[in-house]
Amino acid sequence: MPLAPTTLKVSGNTAAESYPVLVGNGLLGHLPELLGPSVKKVLVIHPRALRTTGDVVRDELANVGLEALTAEIPDAEEGKHIQVASFCWEVLGKNDFTRSDAVISVGGGAVTDLAGFVAATWLRGVKVIHIPTSLLGMVDAAVGGKTGINTAEGKNLVGAFHPPAAVLADLDALATLPKNELVTGMAEIVKTGFIADERILELIEEDPEDAINPGSARLRELIERTIAVKVDVVSRDLKESGDREFLNYGHTLAHAIELAERYQMRHGAAVSIGLCFAAELGRSVGYTSDEIADRHVNILKSLGLPTTYRNDRWAALLDGMKRDKKARGNQLRFVVLEAIGKPRIYEVPDNSLLFAAYQEIGE
Ligand SMILES: NC(=O)c1ccc[n+]([C@@H]2O[C@H](COP(=O)([O-])OP(=O)(O)OC[C@H]3O[C@@H](n4cnc5c(N)ncnc54)[C@H](O)[C@@H]3O)[C@@H](O)[C@H]2O)c1
Ligand SMILES: [Zn+2]
Repeated sequence: MPLAPTTLKVSGNTAAESYPVLVGNGLLGHLPELLGPSVKKVLVIHPRALRTTGDVVRDELANVGLEALTAEIPDAEEGKHIQVASFCWEVLGKNDFTRSDAVISVGGGAVTDLAGFVAATWLRGVKVIHIPTSLLGMVDAAVGGKTGINTAEGKNLVGAFHPPAAVLADLDALATLPKNELVTGMAEIVKTGFIADERILELIEEDPEDAINPGSARLRELIERTIAVKVDVVSRDLKESGDREFLNYGHTLAHAIELAERYQMRHGAAVSIGLCFAAELGRSVGYTSDEIADRHVNILKSLGLPTTYRNDRWAALLDGMKRDKKARGNQLRFVVLEAIGKPRIYEVPDNSLLFAAYQEIGE
């Protein structure tokens, strides 16, 4: 008997910004009640890799008398393109989707971002339900209401806030997720442990192998705890100004590495290196203890994540970090740890401090 699903609730300022996040096994039966009585048509958006799950979702909807259509889109980042959004709008238009109809995403974070954007823009906003199938999608991308596409100017520069009506994190999906995707998704879980929930760190330290076993109760608990933190932060801070910035722990350098690697490195791998860098920076300016800084490297290594980076890229990385933060002027800001569960913002007075931390994580 599978365990009953766990329901976490995002509580926004309005009903439209409030929604449940279900975590468990075999959750598709909940779809009709979550869509509600007004929905007559549903567009299921998924990449080819998730065709089987997409079919199951469509059958589930057809069984309760809903008209369910499919838009199969290109995989991963190829799907986060204006032409793909345009293709989805065309399907919605040709099938007379109204404001009371809905979109469902089935896939990793790329699909939830694209489908969320399509739902945000069609008739200025229709209902969307996310069914994330990657670990990163479950613990990060599907929760929080950020949607977007990539353009020639960069990744995620065009998008909208559009909270979903519900998120179904069905753990059964993880069985087919490639191992490297599972492992790199763990970086966000580790990040969350350091900024908000020490039990996450202990669960991994007790048995790292079990933590990355897709069917384990341990992984389920890690996912639930990570989503709980994001749900809490998002509920308090819907438009990303205050606390939500702490979720960027490790991300300033990570984004610069991704850029330097021309997005050929998985996000979670870059975040893993970025976490080690942030820990070194925190240590060097006296906020983070040696013990906590070392704990970063040990946990990430135990999961098979990278903790060092090539030492000949400083100019490019500094440039990338400055660009990443351009919205806040020229001074670089970092999230550093004062203690586990106690992040703070550190405005770097002198870039030589950053260079010193970079040398510490150098290969
Ligand atoms: N909106 C947000 O708040 C937010 C947060 C974090 C990341 N993101 C976005 O999420 C994207 C990254 O998400 P991702 O890491 O899930 O990548 P992804 O969506 O590209 O998925 C990675 C790969 O795994 C495959 N896959 C996914 N689930 C599978 C399954 N169950 N079985 C087999 N294959 C499966 C996908 O087809 C793809 O090839 C980026 O575009 C990023 O910008 C958004
Ligand atoms: Zn991230």
